[in-house]
Amino acid sequence: MTDILQRKLIIAIDGPAGAGKSTIAARLARKLGYVNLESGAMYRALALKAIDQDASFDDEVALVKLADASRIQLEPTINGNRTLLDGKDVSARIRERDVTEGASRISVHPKVREWMVSHQRAMGAGGGVVMEGRDIGTKVFPDADLKVFLDADPVIREQRRMTQQKISGPVAANVAADLRERDHRDRTRAASPLVAAEDAVVIDSTSMSEDEVLAKVEELARQRHGSGVKD
Ligand code: DC
Repeated sequence: MTDILQRKLIIAIDGPAGAGKSTIAARLARKLGYVNLESGAMYRALALKAIDQDASFDDEVALVKLADASRIQLEPTINGNRTLLDGKDVSARIRERDVTEGASRISVHPKVREWMVSHQRAMGAGGGVVMEGRDIGTKVFPDADLKVFLDADPVIREQRRMTQQKISGPVAANVAADLRERDHRDRTRAASPLVAAEDAVVIDSTSMSEDEVLAKVEELARQRHGSGVKD
């Protein structure tokens, strides 16, 4: 039977692209009966709005105005998360290359980040969430019950991303280059660069299977939860 943790924890999973955060966060949330909130999807939705409205990825003020005028919703469903932008399901569209690039570029702006952080806090405040991103343990929920920083060797991360997207050849080279560029931007931006929180448990998944990572994170969640676990 699925275990349900009685006390609803806030679990933060951060790390670079391709480290396996989304899969682990989704599987962990399912196991615990929690909601999985993918913060990157919100940056992606705003980038899509900017594309649709011809706003520049570099115009911080315009982007915040756009965000204020948008309804960005993360809707957990039995088959994974849906992302809604102004009521429309954009879950597939936000994975495309132009949006991926845009999300990375808009995420450097401090005021865009402030907007995101305040909305993400409101979404996860009640607990019972596995929130995944780059700054969840450092900025969104600095008091999260469990913080995991999931990392992996860059070459492995690129390979995983290609397998996930079922691509090879010249397209794969583009994906690898994009991933490296986004990684660099995430780690070097002035506002909330990607770093592990001081109290995060760092897991290097380079030579671990997905099941092994999940087991490790689940064990940590149960330790944090203490004794009140129902089977
Ligand atoms: O996790 P992802 O690849 O879907 O995220 C898309 C972009 O959003 C990524 O380039 C970095 C940014 N992002 C961020 O800056 N902070 C987060 N908490 C989540 C994502």
